Amino acid sequence: MDKKITIAIDGFSSTGKSTLAKQVAAHLGYAYVDSGAMYRAITLYAMENGFISPSHFDKQGLISRLQDIKLDFRFNPDAGFAEMYINGQNAEKKIRTLEVSSLVSHVAEVSEVRAKLVEQQQHMGENKGVVMDGRDIGTVVFPNAELKLFMTASPETRAQRRFDELTQKGEAVTFEAVLKNVQERDYIDSNREDSPLIQAVDAIAIDNSTLSKEEQLELVLGLAQEAIQL
Ligand code: CDP
Ligand code: CDP
Repeated sequence: MDKKITIAIDGFSSTGKSTLAKQVAAHLGYAYVDSGAMYRAITLYAMENGFISPSHFDKQGLISRLQDIKLDFRFNPDAGFAEMYINGQNAEKKIRTLEVSSLVSHVAEVSEVRAKLVEQQQHMGENKGVVMDGRDIGTVVFPNAELKLFMTASPETRAQRRFDELTQKGEAVTFEAVLKNVQERDYIDSNREDSPLIQAVDAIAIDNSTLSKEEQLELVLGLAQEAIQL
């Protein structure tokens, strides 16, 4: 049997990380973990419990409640992927709104939040055979991952992709608002003190501005096979 590896996919917002990670995991029979969903879930909890809004952020209040927040992924056979649950409640739809996107990078700056989620992510990947996407997977969560990818694409391409996705789901958003959010998150995620978004020295950069989903999958499955044979 082939050896199992860990695949870390990092990069900017809406570069197609989760699309790629899901497909690669399905092809290899690996688990897929969307680490961004976990930061989004903590953000939704903070919003619903009055710790964060566009005009205030009670960091200490959120930190004091972190131990009460139980996150888990449960596979939905109809959707074909694992959905996010917060304290037993399905939160998959609610965590994907632009409102959550507009606050999540502030929550993700909090070291206590990161420590809690990194510990859970490392636990989920301890037996290898996992594809995880996020911002710090190759640098912090799995620094020894056998394959690390760093995804980029132009902000306009990324915003267009995210805009199409949100409008297809029926969310009333403008392209300008989505582009602004993508650029703001790029900035905050890349400049925060704790675990900023940077390309790991041993990561392979992929600019998929002009790559279709099929082309990027083929490219990465080739890289994964090479890493498995090593
Ligand atoms: O899907 P999209 O690229 O828009 O974002 P995401 O992967 O769902 O991540 C949402 C936010 O969570 C990011 O903008 C980061 O602020 C934060 N995040 C992080 O800090 N570290 C991770 N490993 C994953 C996400
Ligand atoms: O996870 P991340 O935020 O990096 O991106 P995603 O949610 O996987 O992809 C954002 C959108 O871009 C999705 O609607 C994908 O179908 C689309 N996409 C694309 O059009 N072409 C690619 N090469 C990759 C993703």
